[in-house]
Amino acid sequence: MKNYSIAIDGPAGAGKSTVAKKVAQILNFIYIDTGAMYRTIGYYCLHNNIDVDTEEDVNNNLDAIDIKIKFVEGMQRIFLNEVDITDLIRTQEVGEAASKVSVYKEVRTRLVSMQQEIAKKENVVMDGRDIGTVVLPNATLKIFLTASSLERAKRRCKELEEKGIVADLEITRKEIEERDYRDSHRENSPLKQADNAILIDSSNMTIEEEIDNIINLYKKRLENEENDK
Ligand code: DC
Repeated sequence: MKNYSIAIDGPAGAGKSTVAKKVAQILNFIYIDTGAMYRTIGYYCLHNNIDVDTEEDVNNNLDAIDIKIKFVEGMQRIFLNEVDITDLIRTQEVGEAASKVSVYKEVRTRLVSMQQEIAKKENVVMDGRDIGTVVLPNATLKIFLTASSLERAKRRCKELEEKGIVADLEITRKEIEERDYRDSHRENSPLKQADNAILIDSSNMTIEEEIDNIINLYKKRLENEENDK
């Protein structure tokens, strides 16, 4: 059976997961948040006193990290050594650790192969940094979703505010720009737009507009595939 896939890449805070989740729901595909896998390794390191800045230390511990993805009522849950840590990995600290460990080749090789195995069995919407370029080079549709760092910082501050946390806009923006820099300048699979990916700048778009846009692009892709037969 032929599987269909949508790759959504882009920088931190561009709204990939919100949009990807919705698109997957509409198309009845599985949504895979690949960032959660890097976060799981970051989380393990933070909780086991492993220095995320030392590649060898991280590599030496990878065999002790068992990551499993399960779906509960259609939502992805992530398990670290059989413990559900889905709700523990969304912090800024874990995000930083994830960004650091994601630079290492061995980390990437292991996670990319897990991601490819899932996409062999299921129709997926997958989001991350290297989905269109490395994980699913033959994805049915590739999207590069971005927004200005100011807009992303505003969204992040609003999210934190809703949780009762006061965040400084300029500091948040600086953190976002630092993460962008590391994610897009690393040697292994840096964040970049795949040649045949469609760029969507969501700075001035509503989430509904982004979703409609992606669904329409996907439908057009399928029509073109049919016509090419
Ligand atoms: O999308 P996120 O913020 O949950 O991702 C956390 C970090 O993981 C991000 O800063 C870079 C890394 N990452 C990656 O290198 N490749 C992916 N496909 C997904 C995430």
